[in-house]
Amino acid sequence: MTDFLWWRDGVIYQIYPRSFLDTNGDGLGDLPGITARLDYLADLGVAAIWLSPFYPSPDKDFGYDVADHCAVDPRYGTLADFDALVQQAHARGIRVVLDLVLNHTSDQHPWFQEARSSRDPSAKRDWYLWRDPRPGRSASSRLPNNWMSMFSGAAWGWEPATGQYYLHLFAPEQPDLNWRNPAVRQAQLDVVRFWLRRDVDGFRLDVFNAYFKDETLRDNPTQFGLAPVLRRKHVYDIDQPEMIPLLNELRGILDGYPERYAVGETSFATVEKAAAYCGPDRLHAAFSFEFTGLAGLGVGWGPRYIARKIQERERVFGAAGVWPTTVMGNHDVPRPATRYCRGEDDAPAKLAMALLLTLRGTPFLYYGDEIGMRDLNLRRDQIMDPVGKAYWPFLKGRDGCRSPMQWDGTPQAGFTTGRPWLRVHGNATQRNLAAQRQDPSSLFNFTRDLIALRKQTPALIRGALAVTPSGSPQVLAFTRTLPGQRILVALNFARRPARISPATLGGSSELLYSTRRSQRPEPRGGLELDPHEVCLLLGN
Ligand code: GLC
Ligand code: CA
Repeated sequence: MTDFLWWRDGVIYQIYPRSFLDTNGDGLGDLPGITARLDYLADLGVAAIWLSPFYPSPDKDFGYDVADHCAVDPRYGTLADFDALVQQAHARGIRVVLDLVLNHTSDQHPWFQEARSSRDPSAKRDWYLWRDPRPGRSASSRLPNNWMSMFSGAAWGWEPATGQYYLHLFAPEQPDLNWRNPAVRQAQLDVVRFWLRRDVDGFRLDVFNAYFKDETLRDNPTQFGLAPVLRRKHVYDIDQPEMIPLLNELRGILDGYPERYAVGETSFATVEKAAAYCGPDRLHAAFSFEFTGLAGLGVGWGPRYIARKIQERERVFGAAGVWPTTVMGNHDVPRPATRYCRGEDDAPAKLAMALLLTLRGTPFLYYGDEIGMRDLNLRRDQIMDPVGKAYWPFLKGRDGCRSPMQWDGTPQAGFTTGRPWLRVHGNATQRNLAAQRQDPSSLFNFTRDLIALRKQTPALIRGALAVTPSGSPQVLAFTRTLPGQRILVALNFARRPARISPATLGGSSELLYSTRRSQRPEPRGGLELDPHEVCLLLGN
C-alpha cells in the first residue's frame, strides 16, 4: 500500500507503563523499560504505542489523577528518558500516542491546591466547579445536584475550609476542571502543544466528552440501574454542545503538524455517539466499545451478537465516513482471554484476536493480550483500584487486568528483579512470551502472523466489510473486499466442528490462513471447520 496512514492502517498497542518492564528494580515499570522493549514491539509489527499516564500522580486512580500534565513522574523516569523513548520509537517507525487526562486533575495538582485554599477568584477558584450546599436537613439533600460519580456515590466532595462542594465525576481526589473558564481551556490546550513540540504523534483523550457540564448543573433524570451512576440518565454531566467547538480548535492545533492523531475515550459510548464526535474538523476516531462495554458488563459474545454489532458499526461509521476503532481489551475491563477462555485453553482468545485484526477499523491491542494473559483474581484486601473498593463483590475493579507483563518463566516473569507493585499472575511460569515464541501454535505466534498477514493484504485493512450467512449458527463469516481481492473470514465460536455452506465459500477457495489446517477446502463441498477454528480464505 502506497498511502499507508499509521493510525488508520496500523495496529496501536496500549502499554500500561507501571506493568510493562521495570529496569531499576523498584517494582514499577518505567519509561526506559518501554524503550528496552521497542525491538519486541517492532517485531510484533505494531505501528504505534499508546502510553497510559506516566505523569506525576498520587495514584489514587493509578496515574489518571494527574498532578502535573507536563512532566514525567520520577518513578517512571525523566523527560530525557521520554525524549529518548520517542526518538527510539521513531527510529523503528513506531509512533507514540499519549494519554491526556484533561477532564480533571489530581487534588494534589497545584491548581487545585490553590483553588481549594480560598474563595477568591484570583486564586484559581473558578478553575474547578464549586457550589454552595442546598438548604436541607439530610446530607444528600444539601448536595448541589443529583449527579453520581463513576466510582461510587455522589459526585460532590465537601471542602470544609471554604464551605463549598466541588464536583468530581470520578474519585474525590480527581476534581473536575471548569472548561468554561477560558484560562482552563488555554492551559489545557497548552498541554497539547507542549507534547506536540516534543514530537508526540497523537493523543488518547481520557473521557473527553465529559469536559463540559451543563452551565447550571441541572439534575440528571433518573432511571433504573444497578450501580448509582447507572441510575442517572447522563443528560447534563456529559455530551454538552460546547464540546464540538473545542474539538474544532484542538483539531486545528493537531493539523498544524503532519499526520497527528486524536482518539477519544467516549464516556457512556454508543456507536452513534462515537461517530458523531469524529470528522475532518473533530477527532480522527473515538472508541465505541461494543466488544468490551462498561467494565466488561452488558456485552455479548458469539456469532449473532458480534454480527449485529459489526453491522451496526458498518452502518453508522460508514454513513458518517468515519474510520472505526476496534477494542477487545484495555486497562479498564477484564482481559478478552479472561472473558472468553476456560482454564488455559487459548482457542477462544484467538477468535477475539482474529476479530481485532480483521474487522474494519484500527485495532487497539492491550499489552499482554498477545500472549493471552489472564486477570489476577485478588482478594478484597488486595484490591487497590477505587472501583473495586467501592463495588466489591459485584465488580472486583480493574487491578486484575493490570498485572505485570509475562516476559519469561523466571520468578517475576522477567518484569522486575525487585518486588512487583502488583503480583505476577501464577500462570506466568508457563504462560509467557519466551515460551510462546517456541510454540508454533501459540496465541503469540498467531497474533504476530496475523499482524504480518494484515500488512501484506490490503483488503484486510481497507476492504469493505460485509457479514455473510455462514450456513451454521455457530460460525461468524464476513468478507473484506477490494477490487480484485476478496477475503472470507470464518470463525467457529463453538467447541464442536461446523460445516459452512458452499454458497458462503463462493469463489474463496484458496487458504490464506488457518489455526487448524494447512489444506485448502474442496471447492464444491463447503468447508468443515474444526472447533474454534479461525480460517481466512482468498478469492477474487
Ligand atoms: C478513563 C480511564 C480510567 C480512569 C478514568 C478517570 O475512563 O480509562 O482508567 O479511571 O478515565 O480518569
Ligand atoms: Ca522501575
